[in-house]
Amino acid sequence: MSLIKDSVKVMITGTSSNLGFNIAVRLLEQLPNDKEITLIVTSRTLPKAKESISEIKNHVKNNIPEKTKLLEFDYILVDFTDMVSVLSAYYDLDKRYKHIDYLFINAAQGVYNGIDWYSATVEVLKNPVDAVTNPTYKLQRTGVASNDNLGLVFQANVFGPYYLIHRVKHLLAKGGKIIWISSLMSHPKYLSFNDLQLLRSPESYEGSKRLVDLLHFASYRRLKEEDGILQYLVHPGIFTSFSFFQFLNPFTYYGMLMLFYIARMLGSPYHNISGYIAANAPVAAALGKTKQSLKVGSACNRSGKEYLKYEEVDTTGKEDVAKYLEDLSKEWDEKLKHQITNSRQK
Ligand SMILES: NC(=O)c1ccc[n+]([C@@H]2O[C@H](COP(=O)([O-])OP(=O)(O)OC[C@H]3O[C@@H](n4cnc5c(N)ncnc54)[C@H](OP(=O)(O)O)[C@@H]3O)[C@@H](O)[C@H]2O)c1
Repeated sequence: MSLIKDSVKVMITGTSSNLGFNIAVRLLEQLPNDKEITLIVTSRTLPKAKESISEIKNHVKNNIPEKTKLLEFDYILVDFTDMVSVLSAYYDLDKRYKHIDYLFINAAQGVYNGIDWYSATVEVLKNPVDAVTNPTYKLQRTGVASNDNLGLVFQANVFGPYYLIHRVKHLLAKGGKIIWISSLMSHPKYLSFNDLQLLRSPESYEGSKRLVDLLHFASYRRLKEEDGILQYLVHPGIFTSFSFFQFLNPFTYYGMLMLFYIARMLGSPYHNISGYIAANAPVAAALGKTKQSLKVGSACNRSGKEYLKYEEVDTTGKEDVAKYLEDLSKEWDEKLKHQITNSRQK
């Protein structure tokens, strides 16, 4: 719980990821030294939340010592595939805080099943840059629903965070910023409007990022006008992540890394590889250095020099997505009405 009433409040979902950690450290580097900062870490588990806090603390001590005295930590345990957990995160935040300044929606998951090594080899031989920019050989399971009976990836990456924002809007009002982490892979072809919960999709991860793009473009103006909340859409390019480690051995891991560097040498702007460069766009957006009306990506040149790259997004269907999420939220407001008793409220 925050002891510092007047601090800048920053919440990063999925702080334990490579990107979550780097968003935290880049933002801490850039926030002014005249105000205290409360960093709210999230994880599904207590050990990981504690680990994230201690890693960030160590990094700050060794690299940004001037921030050590200004920084305090808090954590929220939340699983976005469980609506009661999302509701409970809302109650915790509402009890502890009057305002949240920055909310990064970074946590995400897929339902991966492995790698189709035959397709991967063919793709790499045909076009190595494309093979590590738009991989189609990562196998995803279809039809995976959560215990709430929602599409699991849809709930984890879109509806769970959306519902949390819906509940904590009053904490973000008047100047709070929401930064949604999307992906390069959010092409319109990955989303069918007959399957918005992505239950039939073999590319549910990519479909969920397409939903995030559409949700942003449908809602950012209204959020600003009605609540004074500034929402941004960014993507981190491509960087090393822990999410696929389980399917790789040292040989395939270093092979992948080598292909990333080759892609960068051949001119791919998105092979950032480092989580620190990947965090450039999210932090630039948070600090008001990008436009809300565009999707902005973290990019770098052949020598790894970072820059921001704006993307055009086809926003066809954005209102349908916004309406679907709004209606589903109302349904869940009703379902969760008696879930947590008054004794948990302030
Ligand atoms: N890696 C890339 O090249 C790449 C490219 C484009 C976009 N992105 C995006 O960048 C972001 C970070 O990616 P990453 O690869 O660094 O992530 P990652 O290593 O896969 O970590 C995912 C994070 O999300 C949290 N998380 C997963 N499922 C969750 C759930 N159901 N509820 C709550 N939290 C959950 C995990 O937290 P705990 O395990 O601690 O609970 C973890 O911190 C994601 O939004 C991803 O889609 C990544």
